[in-house]
Formats: sequence, structure tokens, C-alpha cells
Amino acid sequence: MDSSATTSSAESAHKVLVPSREGFLWGAATAAHQVEGNNIANDWWHLEHSGSEVIAEPSGDAADHFHRWPEDLDLLASLGLNAYRFSLEWSRIEPEKGFFSNAAIEHYRKMVAGCLVRGLAPIVTLHHVTLPLWFRRQGGWSSPEAAELFARFTTKVLPALEGVEWVCTINEPGMQPMISRLHAGDPEALKAWTGGGMPVPTPREIDELISAHHSATEILHAETDAKVGWTVSIADLQYDDAGRVHADAWFEKYEGPFLRASRGDDFIGIQNYFRTVFDKDGVVPLPSGARMTDIWEFYPEALGNSLRVAWETTDHTPILVTENGIPTNDDTLRVEFMDRALTSLTGAMNDGVDVRGYLHWSALDNFEWALGYGPRFGLIEVDPVTFERRLKPSAHHYAALVTQATSVHPQL
Ligand code: BGC
Repeated sequence: MDSSATTSSAESAHKVLVPSREGFLWGAATAAHQVEGNNIANDWWHLEHSGSEVIAEPSGDAADHFHRWPEDLDLLASLGLNAYRFSLEWSRIEPEKGFFSNAAIEHYRKMVAGCLVRGLAPIVTLHHVTLPLWFRRQGGWSSPEAAELFARFTTKVLPALEGVEWVCTINEPGMQPMISRLHAGDPEALKAWTGGGMPVPTPREIDELISAHHSATEILHAETDAKVGWTVSIADLQYDDAGRVHADAWFEKYEGPFLRASRGDDFIGIQNYFRTVFDKDGVVPLPSGARMTDIWEFYPEALGNSLRVAWETTDHTPILVTENGIPTNDDTLRVEFMDRALTSLTGAMNDGVDVRGYLHWSALDNFEWALGYGPRFGLIEVDPVTFERRLKPSAHHYAALVTQATSVHPQL
């Protein structure tokens, strides 16, 4: 595997390494509900308007990406990126059980074609957090019909996937049980959004999600040439000798089953945002004075460590970094984050981890679920009223890193 690295000319105070592997995918990611706007037939929209105390504000028009995607793709292409990850909104495609909107499928088919024409490899996620309200009401992923209904949805969206080389079935299966309990108004789940413990997926939920992933994978393999995987969120778990037992237990509860289910897949999407540290008492609280993003600790090197764990646990399934980024209004922090995260990714590749691409989260400032529009993850700023877009300095910095990397092996 070619995992050679170059030192970026964008470097200043610190040494920046970027992977220069031929064909490496350089991109940014979004998810439908966080950017499209007016996804009124899904469970989140319903939650946003239910008076729930954990929802800071409703998603509303979001970034109006549903209408403005051509402009957004133009901006990403102008940065020299060669990939864009986005998701299909199931509730637009199947707003009522069994009714499929040809217009919605056509919308996504055009987005895929729009990516291809601009030299952006479309990386399409079939399900990212939101579910049609009717599906949630019949039990969501706990419904005995769940895997079957997801398989039917997968079959129906095949026309939108023409020319797509990378399909992610389900985004962050490990978070689904927490999201389900949030929709059910379970106070445990509410705590997870405010820094408390996350509800633990039950074996039943894990089985249903894995079975939904496998049946969708079978359909996609039979009907398309796409590489198929799912995207798993993992923290960089750090521990001392006495903390190992807690870290292992955490890993088994939230990460291990979903990583192991990727063994034999074409790829796994890895999403990493931070580290979690354990000692003899369990999770170690952040020390006062820790460097922070707007939500969690600033620790870019978590990426490389997580990739090594995913590589070993999946028995060497190739990896796409499908999300990595930080919530911050301080764009210089984003620049430093990118430099250090990519350096750690390059380190993992040099150790033999097969990483095929990096999709920064996020392309646009977007709707951060329960936290609303406060946290800003975007490379592109969006005016919430006029929807005017503006590339941030970090976007230009990313472009310079990509130029540096691809100058070694020119891209297609
Ligand atoms: C999710 C995104 C979310 C991001 C930042 C990931 O868990 O896939 O939808 O915005 O984390 O919190």
C-alpha cells in the first residue's frame, strides 16, 4: 500500500503530514436533515416541534441545501476536492409507509449526477439519524419489520445511485438506540445530550441494525457495482492499567459489535471527534484548563489512534474517514485541528492502516441536532436569512493541503 506522505507547504509552526496515496478521496460531508431544510415528514422535525426541552431550536430551512446543492457542489469543487458525502432523506422518499416519491428519488439522482459532472465522487448515505415519522411510530429500529422496510427502501432508491461508487448504509448504528430513547422521552437519553451516560444498545437493537445493514448490502452488491459499508463513530479510548477494564467495557457496549460487523465489508466509515480517558474509577473528567472546542475537548490526534483500533478490530477492512471535524467559531482552531488530525491519519497509514479517503465534517455550517445552530462545524459559512455562502479561511487551508497531497499523484 502506498501510504507515503508529504509535508505540507501550508505548514507553519508545526510539521504537517498529509497522505499522498493515489486515488485518495478528499472531501467534505453533510447529512440531509442538517442542511436541506423543511424535512417535515421525519421524526426529528416532529421532535423539534414537540416542546421537548432538549431541542435548542427547530431546523427550519437549515442551509436550504435541498435547493442550493448545485452552488454548494461548485464551491466544494472549487477547493479541488474530489468527493462529497451526503445522505438521502428517507422521509422525503417514503413520506408515508409504502408511498415512494419518484420526484424525491429524481432529486437525489440529479445530485449524484451533479457530483460526477464536477469530479466529486458521490459518497451516499442511505440513512443518517432521521427516520420517517411513520417508521419511528411503529417502533423504529426495534420494530420487527425494520430490516425488511430498510431493504425495501434500499431497492427503491437504486435509480438514484447510478454511478455511485461508495454507499454507506446506516450512519452511526451505535447512536440509534440513544436516539430512539430520546424520541421516546426517556430521561436517560436526555442526559446523553448534556454530557451524561449514553443508553446502552440492547442485543435485540444491535441484531436488527446489523441485519438491516447486511440485507441492504446484499441488495446493493447484487444490483450495483458500489462498494458498501456503514459508518461507525468511535472515540479514541485512552487508559492506564487500572482503567483498561472500564475502557474495554465501554468499547464492548458502544463500539465493538458495530466494528466487528464490518468484517468482510468493502469498507468501513470511521467517524471520530474526541478521546475518552479512563482510570480506575471509570471515565476521567476533563481537567480544568483542557483545550476545548465549543462542545468537547480539542484533541485532533484522536483520529489516528481510532483508525488503528478500527483497522485491528475489523480484521483489516479498508477505511474511509467519513466524518472528522470540530464545532468552533474560531476558524484558526479548525485549521490547527485539520493539520494535526491529518498528520495523525498519515501516521496511521504509515503504520499500515488502509485509509482510502478523508471527508471533513462538515461542508456547511449546519443544524447540530439537539444543539441547534449554535455549534459551527462548516468549511462554508451560511447566512441563515439570505442563505449566502462564504468559504472560510479553513476551507482555503484545506484546499492547500489537498493540492500539496495530490501534487505527488495527480488525481483523475
Ligand atoms: C453525526 C453528525 C453530527 C456530528 C457532530 C456525528 O455523530 O453523524 O450528524 O453532526 O457527529 O456531532
